[in-house]
Parts: sequence; C-alpha cells; structure tokens
Amino acid sequence: MSKKLCIETVGCQMNVLDSELVVGSLRRQGYSLTTEPTEADVILFNTCSVRQHAEDKVYSALGRLREHKRRHPHKVIGVLGCMAQKDQELIRQRAPHVDIVCGTGQLARLPELIAAVKRDGSFQLAVSLDRHEASRPEVERSFESYDPLRDPTVRPSPFQAYVRIMIGCDKFCTYCIVPSVRGPEQSRHPEHIAAEVRQLADEGCKEITFLGQTVNSWKHDFGDGRRWRLADLLLHIHDTPGIERIKFLTNFPRDMSDDLLDAVRDLPKVCPYLHVPAQSGCNEVLKRMKRLYTVEFYRDMLARCRERIPGVAISSDFIVGFCGESEASFARTCELVRTAGFKNSYIFKYSPRPGTKADELFADDVPEEVKKRRNNDLLAIQNAVSLADHRRYIGRTVEVLVEGRSKTSLKHPDEDVPQLTGRTVTDHIVVFPGPDRWAGRTVRVAIEEATAFTLFGTVVEEPNGSGAGPRRVSLPTV
Ligand code: SAH
Ligand code: SF4
Ligand code: F3S
Repeated sequence: MSKKLCIETVGCQMNVLDSELVVGSLRRQGYSLTTEPTEADVILFNTCSVRQHAEDKVYSALGRLREHKRRHPHKVIGVLGCMAQKDQELIRQRAPHVDIVCGTGQLARLPELIAAVKRDGSFQLAVSLDRHEASRPEVERSFESYDPLRDPTVRPSPFQAYVRIMIGCDKFCTYCIVPSVRGPEQSRHPEHIAAEVRQLADEGCKEITFLGQTVNSWKHDFGDGRRWRLADLLLHIHDTPGIERIKFLTNFPRDMSDDLLDAVRDLPKVCPYLHVPAQSGCNEVLKRMKRLYTVEFYRDMLARCRERIPGVAISSDFIVGFCGESEASFARTCELVRTAGFKNSYIFKYSPRPGTKADELFADDVPEEVKKRRNNDLLAIQNAVSLADHRRYIGRTVEVLVEGRSKTSLKHPDEDVPQLTGRTVTDHIVVFPGPDRWAGRTVRVAIEEATAFTLFGTVVEEPNGSGAGPRRVSLPTV
C-alpha cells in the first residue's frame, strides 16, 4: 500500500521551493500526496516566522492534530522551515505530539529523520545552519546535493520553476527574522545554477524565477580575477534553449546597479518586472529599520529603473506601524505610494519578532487599531494607483504565458470554454476565455477591461502548434 504525505506550506517563494524539493525526495521513497491531513501517514508543516500571525496559524493547526496523533501514534508529524529554525525545542514543549523539528538547513535529511521516527518513535531535532562553516566546500556540496533533485510532476506548474541562486541574508534589517532563520548570505556557483536551468528546460520548463532574499546582491568570485554579479549570471544562462522568460526576486534597493538594469533592458528573455521593497517612505523610519537608504535614494533608483528599462513594472513591500512611526511618518509613506506608480504593493502590519534588533531596542508603540487603519489607508491608496496602472493596458495587446484555469473556472470543471489565467512579462495577471490545452503556451491578448488586480481580454493570436510561444515582441509603453 502506498504511503501518504500531506504538506502544508506557508511563507515566501523560498518555502514553496523547499516544499517542492521535500515532496520530490519523499516521492522517490514511495510517498503519494494527499491534501487531507487525517489520511496521511506523514504530516508536514513548512513554516514561516516573518510575522506572529504565520506562526499562530501553524500552532493552531498542530493543536487540531493532537487528538488524531493520540489515536494514531504511528503517524509522523513534522515541523519544517523557518519556525522550526527559530523555535527549535520550544515547538516540542508547545506541541509534544510533534515527532520532527527540521530547520531550513537540514531539509535534505528529512527522509532519514522520518525513517528514524518510524524505527523507534524517537523525537528528531535537526536545526544546524552550518553557520560557521559557510565557506567550506562540503557545505556548498550539501547545498548543491539538494536543489538539483527536481521533480516536474510536483511543481505547481510544469512550465514554471523557482531556482535558488542564494541562501540566507546578511542585511539584518532591524525588524526581520529572516537572517537568523535562513543563516548567512551565500551565493550559489553559477555553473550549478546553469546546470539546473538546463535541466529544468529539458523537462519542459519555460519560465524560471531566480530566488534570493536579496537576489540582486548575488555574486561569485572565480578566484582568477573574474567577479560576476547578477547581470553576468543572467547573460550566462540567457540563451538556454527552451527557456522563454527569466525573472528574479527580491531586490534590495541599494544593490539595484545600472549594469543589472541594462541587462534587464538588453536581454529579451529577462522580464521587465522588478520587485524592490521600499518598506517605508520616511527617512527616520528607514534609519530605525536599518534599510541603508533614504527615500530620496529610493526615488532616484526608481527613476533610473524607468529611464533605463522602457515599460518596466515595479512592485514593493511596506511595513506600517513600525516602532516610532508617527502620523507624519506614515503620511510620507502614503505620499511615496501615491506618486511612485507601483504596479502593486504588499502591505504588512509590523509584528515584533523576538531575537531581532527592533524588538530589543524599540518599543512596539503603535497600537494595533492604528496599524490596522494605516494598513487599510495605504492599501486604498495603492489600489487606486494599481487601477490606474492596469487601466493603461486597455486597448493594448499583450503577450501572456498561460498558467491554466482561472480560480473561478477551477470551480466549474464542466465549462465548455473556461476562463484561463496567465501573466504578462510585466507580471500583470490576465484572464481570458480559451481551451485548457493552451496551458504553458504564449498567446496574444487584447485587453478590454481592468480592475486593480486583473486585466481581462480576448485572444487575438492563438499559440502555434509547438507550444513554444513567440519571444517578447511589443513592450507596453507608458
Ligand atoms: N528579503 C525580502 C523579503 C523579506 S520578508 C526583502 O528584503 O524585501 C517579506 C516582507 O515581509 C518584507 O519585505 C517586509 O515588508 C515584511 N516583513 C518582514 N519582517 C516583518 C515584520 N517583523 N513585521 C511585518 N512585516 C515584516
Ligand atoms: Fe529581511 Fe532585510 Fe534581509 Fe529582506 S533584506 S530578508 S527584509 S533582513
Ligand atoms: Fe517566512 Fe522564512 Fe520566507 S520566515 S518569509 S518563509 S524565509
């Protein structure tokens, strides 16, 4: 009888990729996937610590499984990822029915940890980050031994894939837990990245997204005088046959160098879309956040992006209610969002994280009610900007890489002509009618309607038979 695995994933793209790799390795051990925790032999939670809310959700899900585990003691429950890294033994204290706590640096060991629990029921804790050994070759090997284990059948989409080009973060923004749960910044070797991209392309993948907490800080020193940065890496992998689109996430504003912007402009497969979180529009707040730039610098950076890359779309993240954020500080953030022309912004209420500098040094002095109001107000401003941005596309024709059925059509499997969804090179979501077989193809869609989040239209050029869509032909001009 086949063994069943249920995995729930929260958090960022890194976690989505980690879960894909975990599922891939367990499938090779004979596991099949189920979405129903009570049907599974192994129940895993791949967790996030970036805000308290993300942790609370996992602890309550674990609480709901306590009785189930009492009745079925042979079932294995594991907590993986960032919260495992941060809370370690504490998880076992709060949820004694957890069998495995496996941090972000040890996920490759999961099959072995599960086997150990099955053997004698012993609790397994694996949380080493190899922190002090990051420069040793065997650590690079352990990083490498894991990522290439891809399995196209477990990716959310067979023609889109994340590729990790670095791990960790050295920036230590004062509010952020990521550097302590993901360890020091370490760039992956360009040849290993290139090999993985080739492998993905051979498997039919058309779009790759390079991942890194500060992806534009990627660098590699060959030791012979050659020093590569992200622009060089993009050029190096650009001509991989089969790859049509290349994206990268998340950019740190200070490292948005001109050579990178020129690479985005000049390399036709690299999408003119940049996610560059600003976090705040107030210099005092940015200083307390230790973001290492001013609003003026950020605005100049935006202007450089727009000047060098015609038609570029830019998105951002903001934290509202950070320690000491006055009404005047918040007004400056509103002003930035009103005028910066972001395609969209992700807005978060500040959540103090034990172990961070901000939690140690500053009082969490903005009341929850005020955080909520600022969140809503900023969201309303961004939505108006997003609507204006989306409406500019009405009457234009855009290229869309089709991802599959839209959320609404997924609920109606018998529809004759379903609504499909996909994205433009600028990361705009487009919904239009078309047959399921177009998934993975590139189509040209005339845009007729727009909301703040979605463009709607009709296909004007059907995909060719090979499934290899045309290269980018027309960039929307602003
Ligand atoms: N490495 C990326 C993303 C880090 S986490 C970057 O540097 O931008 C994703 C987002 O979560 C951050 O951009 C920030 O807006 C938000 N975030 C991080 N820590 C937070 C905290 N303590 N409270 C609220 N939001 C937070
Ligand atoms: Fe966190 Fe800052 Fe690193 Fe992003 S750059 S992961 S916000 S510490
Ligand atoms: Fe969360 Fe870890 Fe990502 S804390 S945001 S899952 S790196």
